[in-house]
This record gives sequence, C-alpha cells and structure tokens, in this order.
Amino acid sequence: MSRIWAWRAKFYDVCEGSQLRRGPHKAALFQEMSGRVLFEAVGTGVDIQHFPPGRDITAIDISDEMLRRARPRAERYRGRLELVRMDAQHLSFPDECFDTVVTACTMCSVPDPHRALREIHRVLRPGGQLLMFEHVRSRNRVLGLALDLMTIWTRWSGTEMNRDTLRNVQAAGFCITRVESVYLDIILSIRAEKMEKLRRPASARGKHGDVVRI
Ligand SMILES: C[S@@+](CC[C@H](N)C(=O)[O-])C[C@H]1O[C@@H](n2cnc3c(N)ncnc32)[C@H](O)[C@@H]1O
Repeated sequence: MSRIWAWRAKFYDVCEGSQLRRGPHKAALFQEMSGRVLFEAVGTGVDIQHFPPGRDITAIDISDEMLRRARPRAERYRGRLELVRMDAQHLSFPDECFDTVVTACTMCSVPDPHRALREIHRVLRPGGQLLMFEHVRSRNRVLGLALDLMTIWTRWSGTEMNRDTLRNVQAAGFCITRVESVYLDIILSIRAEKMEKLRRPASARGKHGDVVRI
C-alpha cells in the first residue's frame, strides 16, 4: 500500500493539496493542539502551514516519498516538529505518552481504522484529546450510497470514502465532545477525549457499584 502513496505523493499537492476551502477549518481545529502532539498521516505536509506556532509535534506517515516532500515545510515550522516514518496501525510509542493526537484525512487512508484508533487510544494519556479532520460516510441515504459507489473506484488508490468514523471513534473508547460539519455531513471536524480511568472504590462497591473518576 505504501507504493500507492509513493506514487500519489508526486501529484498530491496539485490534485488534492488545495487548502483554499478547507484550510481555515483545519487551522481552527489545529489551534487546539496542546502538550505533546502526535500528528498522523502528515502526507506532503500541506497541513503544516495551519499548525499553530510553538508546539511540540511528532508527525508520522507510512510513505517515505510523502515525508521527503513534507521535509522543507517541516523545516519552516516555528516550533518543534519531527517527521517519522511509521504505520499508524502499529505505533512504536509507549502507552499514554501524548496529550493530543491529530488526524487529517487519515481514517479514510489506513487499511484498518479500528486498529489505528485503538493505537491512538493506547498512546494518548487519560483525558487527552483527539482532533480529527476526516471525510466519512454520509447518513443521508442517497449520499451514503453515492459514497459507497465512489469507494469502488477510489479504493484502488488507497482511499475509502464511506467509513463510519464517528462510530469507530466511540467503539475505540473515546467520548466525542464536538462534531462540526465542514461540508454537508461528509467532511467533519471532530473533537473527542480519552476518558479518565474508571475504578470502583472499596467504599462504593454495592449491588450496583458506583464508579468514580480518578
Ligand atoms: C489523503 S493523505 C492525507 C494527507 C494530509 N494529512 C492531508 O490532509 O492532505 C493520506 C496519508 O495517509 C498516509 N497513510 C496511509 N496509510 C498509512 C498508515 N497505515 N500509517 C501512516 N500513514 C498512512 C499516506 O501516505 C498519505 O500521506
């Protein structure tokens, strides 16, 4: 699959890198990055211009060719920005080491979004935030079907247009705190949180056993 992305990297900025419509929405979302940040699927780095200055960001991508093109943009960033080749489905970071994880057109690109989201959940600290800019399957029946049909064609180039990302995020154990529409209900700006660990204190263990935040 990374061969496909190496090939797409050559045309990415021309075909899909236009930030005219989406740029301000991405910038508003990225503004919320705080603490130690993991950015997933940096591609050719078109998103870097929207990063707020002064952050501490590790940005990953599976494709060497994408990362090679992202490098000059990363060098111009006014903050700490490290580029690393890594598969979002198999992160080599320790548990709970990031305060924020950001994705941008990532969940439509990774082969297994469930696994990628479980990995994000693992590396994010309890209470940490997940910021996502993603295109998803529409809940409108006609649009949803149109996206299903489009995916038959786009799948060969690595893009799944019809993923139920909101449901997948919840299934991975996140609490969704905000969803904003950027284009219909297809391109979404999402904020979610990794819930604090829950434990049942000895004093509260009863028939129905309350749980408390720690
Ligand atoms: C549609 S591009 C998104 C690039 C950029 N974030 C944007 O919004 O324009 C998807 C990116 O995901 C990367 N990618 C695909 N599968 C991946 C994986 N398993 N792990 C990490 N990155 C992956 C591709 O190399 C590509 O750069």
